[in-house]
Amino acid sequence: MKRIIIYPGSFDPPTNGHLDLIERGAKIFDELVVAILLNEEKQPLFSIEERCAMLREMTRHCPNVSVDTFDGLLVDYAVGRGAQAVLRGIRAISDYEYELQMALMNRKLEPRLETVFMMPALAYSYLSSRLVREIAQLGGAVTGLVPEPVEKQLLEKLNGKT
Ligand code: PNS
Repeated sequence: MKRIIIYPGSFDPPTNGHLDLIERGAKIFDELVVAILLNEEKQPLFSIEERCAMLREMTRHCPNVSVDTFDGLLVDYAVGRGAQAVLRGIRAISDYEYELQMALMNRKLEPRLETVFMMPALAYSYLSSRLVREIAQLGGAVTGLVPEPVEKQLLEKLNGKT
């Protein structure tokens, strides 16, 4: 049986912390699907298509990683994809409460699905998409915080080219 794990999130934009987690997850599962949530209430900086394209480009070197979008309940999507687990990152203790609540609720909804938590490299433990957006919007440098294609897209977007 193929072991499949879903890595869900908003990825607005994807960061080096996300990539670190994708690479770690892809090492221990046969297939890792990065699943971008559609129809979020908040107004995203990047469209779904842009986020898909950036994630595909930054994971080109990972043959067992694919990128998809999903709507509705994560557990329904994960079971539909034949996955056994959901991957989530925990950077600091402040992530724990929200992640625990979500993992336990997902378990209540679908007991067959496990949540696997992984820690990103320490260097990314303070990194978040929200901070990257804010820094870039205020003219700060995001080099080293996001993969190169994402940095390029951020600069283009904020200079009004896309
Ligand atoms: O990047 P994020 O915002 O931390 O990701 C949150 C995400 C997409 C994992 C979460 O909002 C989610 O799973 N949404 C799908 C709807 C759902 O299943 N809600 C019940 C969660 S217990």
